[in-house]
Amino acid sequence: MCGIMGYSGHRRASEVLVEGLKRLEYRGYDSAGVAMVENGRLAMVKRQGELDVLQGALPRLEGRTGIGHTRWATCGRPSDRNAHPFLSCDGKLAIVHNGIIENHSTLRKRLEAEGHHFTSETDTEVVVHLLEGHFRGDLRQAMADTLKEIKGTYAIAAVLEGSEEIVAARKENPLVIGLGVQENFLASDVTALLSYTNKVLYVMDGETVSLTPNGVAIFDSEGAQVKREPSLVSWSAEDAQKGGFEHFMLKEIFEGPNAIHNTLLGALDLIENGEVLPRTDFQSVKLVACGSSYHAAMVGKYAMEEFAGVPTTLELASEYRYSPGARETPLVILITQSGETADTLAAAREARRRGCHTLAVTNVVGSTITREVDEVLYTRAGPEIGVAATKTFLTQLVAMYLVAIRIGYGNGTLSHASMRSALSSLRQSSNMVQSVLNRTHSIEEASRMLDRAGHCFFIGRNINYPTMLEGALKLKEISYIHAEGFAAGELKHGPLALLDATTPVIAVAIKGDHTYEKMLANISEVAARDSPVLGIGVEGDTDLGRLCERMIAIQPVEPVFSPLPVTVALQALAYYVARRRGCSIDKPKNLAKSVTVE
Ligand code: AGP
Repeated sequence: MCGIMGYSGHRRASEVLVEGLKRLEYRGYDSAGVAMVENGRLAMVKRQGELDVLQGALPRLEGRTGIGHTRWATCGRPSDRNAHPFLSCDGKLAIVHNGIIENHSTLRKRLEAEGHHFTSETDTEVVVHLLEGHFRGDLRQAMADTLKEIKGTYAIAAVLEGSEEIVAARKENPLVIGLGVQENFLASDVTALLSYTNKVLYVMDGETVSLTPNGVAIFDSEGAQVKREPSLVSWSAEDAQKGGFEHFMLKEIFEGPNAIHNTLLGALDLIENGEVLPRTDFQSVKLVACGSSYHAAMVGKYAMEEFAGVPTTLELASEYRYSPGARETPLVILITQSGETADTLAAAREARRRGCHTLAVTNVVGSTITREVDEVLYTRAGPEIGVAATKTFLTQLVAMYLVAIRIGYGNGTLSHASMRSALSSLRQSSNMVQSVLNRTHSIEEASRMLDRAGHCFFIGRNINYPTMLEGALKLKEISYIHAEGFAAGELKHGPLALLDATTPVIAVAIKGDHTYEKMLANISEVAARDSPVLGIGVEGDTDLGRLCERMIAIQPVEPVFSPLPVTVALQALAYYVARRRGCSIDKPKNLAKSVTVE
């Protein structure tokens, strides 16, 4: 998983490439590099480390055509040698790549026998040597011939000395073209293009591209030219910036209410007119996802059973693909904010192969999942740069409620009045999230309870069990504190043995929920083991307050929708702990935003 940027035009290419790569660093940041046509020859600079390291090493370059890359290692450890781009033996061609070349060992043996000299441990390097072998003066043709020999997934961009042309190709890895005036761009993601243009062309699987300052030509796998109308992206460059916040994550947490609001635009039409799921007579539903998106799916299961009365099962995308699938469900919903998660894409293909109707819930228009499913429901969270899912997670919850309400209304479980009332409560949730954000100073204060902890437990019941799994995931991924989420009723079946005064427990108990009393009992069990309890509950709840060392209060809320305000409190909690620990919040170690390997 990596970020690719390409430019050919009238600006200094090195500046455009570095600027674009900055926006793509969320895709990987263990090394970075650029190659450009400089006085007719190729100049290449690449370095292990984050983009700043590359920037520090870059001389002033005047070239106007070039390609760049920010890497997340999959084959070959992070190092200068393994950083992209890679040059052909004669130094006339350079390429960058995102994806995996599965048959690289076989190809490498053959190419080495033919006399090609390799400089890295990567799978990618075979591509440039193949390209060199096929090059007879037409770079795009050489690319087409190279692709015939490659097995795997890729987005590739290549440049040639003495030329203004960039040639690119894609298979199962994102690639988008930005259109300018006497300049054109190429990137893994539109966020890298927004400082220059909002007019884009999405490259589809199997296509190759030839890009120069004066034009872009797209070809299908048979070599026939493809005509495609550009799309206009409504995100602004500013949307993709930090906007005055110290970290993208904090900015994105604060964008939660707006993201919820935008995702709910047109919700009534969607539900009444069946704009998604025109058919709703499903006997059962399966939800499939990874990581945070899986936690959203877990909330979705409760929502589906509550609003639609439809038995719902869950599967991790990485498991679904290999499951026997004996009793397949008629509707499979795949949840992925990026739309590029390899496991979820594979699950989508498998679900279709099994004959299921597939619906994707994603935040990224034009992402790969949208072409792998029967229907798409977009969340409208806007770009999320921080690796930790925050606002996109909230909008996934909203999408889960919408789908459940749609199916419940369609199958007669919800009357028109109850459907409208559920929607109106859902709309209120954006205000509730805002009210949590208005009190972040108290969350910041409460978060000090976790400062010296080596381990933390997060407990909840029912629809807030997944919320607490997500709270634990947020804390561990950005603060590196070991955190575990549990269904509160499970503590006494084992985990209680680990509790003592050094292990804080974060517990949610929402007054009005049918599990509230049981939660209080579970919290008492925890307090009796001397564990400091940080409670999350509705304001004025003195029963909960008495059991806790500290409490984060949210406005009274219908229990079924409480995951929304509770989640945002947990996101802020994790953020403040990580900030005091000086962690790399937007780019936690060993992680990347979009996981395009299985
Ligand atoms: C959590 O903060 C992560 N970003 C991660 O668990 C993420 O939810 C997972 O990798 C799935 O990503 P997706 O939604 O883009 O498919």
